[in-house]
Amino acid sequence: MTGPDWFDAGLPHIWLPYTQMRTASPPIPAIATDGCRISLADGRELVDGIASWWTACHGYNHPHIRQAAIDQLARMPHVMFGGLVHEPALRLARRLADLLPGDLERVFFSDSGSVAVEVAIKMAMQYWLNRGQSGRTRLVAFRGGYHGDTLATMAVCDPEEGMHSLFAGILPQHFITDLPRDDHTTAALEQLMETEGQRVAAILVEPLVQGAGGMLFHDPATLRRLRDLADRHGVLLILDEIFTGFGRTGTMFACQQADIVPDIVTLSKALSGGTVPLAATVARAHVFAAFLSDDPMHALMHGPTFMANPLACACANASLDLFEREPRLEQVAAIEEQMRDELEACRHLPAVRDVRVMGAIGVVELDRINDMNRLKARLVDQGVWVRPFRSIVYLTPAFTVTKAELARLTGAIRTVLAEAP
Ligand SMILES: Cc1ncc(COP(=O)(O)O)c(C=O)c1O
Repeated sequence: MTGPDWFDAGLPHIWLPYTQMRTASPPIPAIATDGCRISLADGRELVDGIASWWTACHGYNHPHIRQAAIDQLARMPHVMFGGLVHEPALRLARRLADLLPGDLERVFFSDSGSVAVEVAIKMAMQYWLNRGQSGRTRLVAFRGGYHGDTLATMAVCDPEEGMHSLFAGILPQHFITDLPRDDHTTAALEQLMETEGQRVAAILVEPLVQGAGGMLFHDPATLRRLRDLADRHGVLLILDEIFTGFGRTGTMFACQQADIVPDIVTLSKALSGGTVPLAATVARAHVFAAFLSDDPMHALMHGPTFMANPLACACANASLDLFEREPRLEQVAAIEEQMRDELEACRHLPAVRDVRVMGAIGVVELDRINDMNRLKARLVDQGVWVRPFRSIVYLTPAFTVTKAELARLTGAIRTVLAEAP
């Protein structure tokens, strides 16, 4: 017996994500969450440093979101969105349109980030088809990018660094290039657009932070260059704000720091406050207009069964209430300052290549991690839940993390990295 009976009985039947099931250490049974804490079956409690893949921005079990879920559960947990609509989804769509910059005003709901990106890709491709241009079948996306694990989204992730190089031969071909960070890379992208621009439907990028591809940062000027390039070559700009949206980089949406409006934006993760799966693909008025026609085939041909699930939309509305009522962006600024101070000490440790912080994202990049299983176990020994990947140890805590909890997280990282990683 290594855990509760449900653990021992169920584990042989579970297939875990991104996990080599032969060699990985077994997962840890969790039984409850509260705030920034995860309770384990063996009685230990961990301070959570990553908010369940940066979703639980208000901490776990926030009473306001919980009450909204309970009320909605009693009234109508789900109803199909084909032919029927409901208050939680329409209120949420209206609120997102008000929050997002410019005329990003048409919301298509789905249930995961990958699907939201798939919908954005499909929307961009069909936008051109509906306008009578059939040759625009490619996207421009970027090295270091991550947009999901489904087949269409794998094709726009970093082809080498990503988890998907195995599938190279069977994925649709797009143009994956360097972000235009400087003169050289900007000229290369200009050149690509000059020669291939007529085949391009859209440019797709995670604004300011390429998250799961390595927590790589770029500046607002890079985004402005992309907006400018898309305008000059008449292609759409899609921003994937699934990681960056809802305050993570210090502003409600990352695109606001560059003062640009994308043609399509994707949202998920913190959209529901990290409680239930929900995603959205939001289009500007001119994108939506390309789908208005007497031809039924010009409609957007997509419709996930659980789209706009009322329970999820109720949680998302409650999450937006919290952004209105509680000082979330101030909390992000305080987290940023504390992480800058406290992670800086890691810079002088032997294997550390870089320390970087943006908003509530703190990253310590190492030359390499020699023993991932050991590093993860050592972090748990310190009483924290931090999940390094590749050569990155990072924090994306809930915005409600206390000063003491954050100090415990940064302290644990410093302690563990001072040992050989
Ligand atoms: C920027 C970005 N896009 C898309 C996705 C995929 O989202 P999901 O895992 O919900 O499919 C992720 C997930 O990490 C992400 O960070």
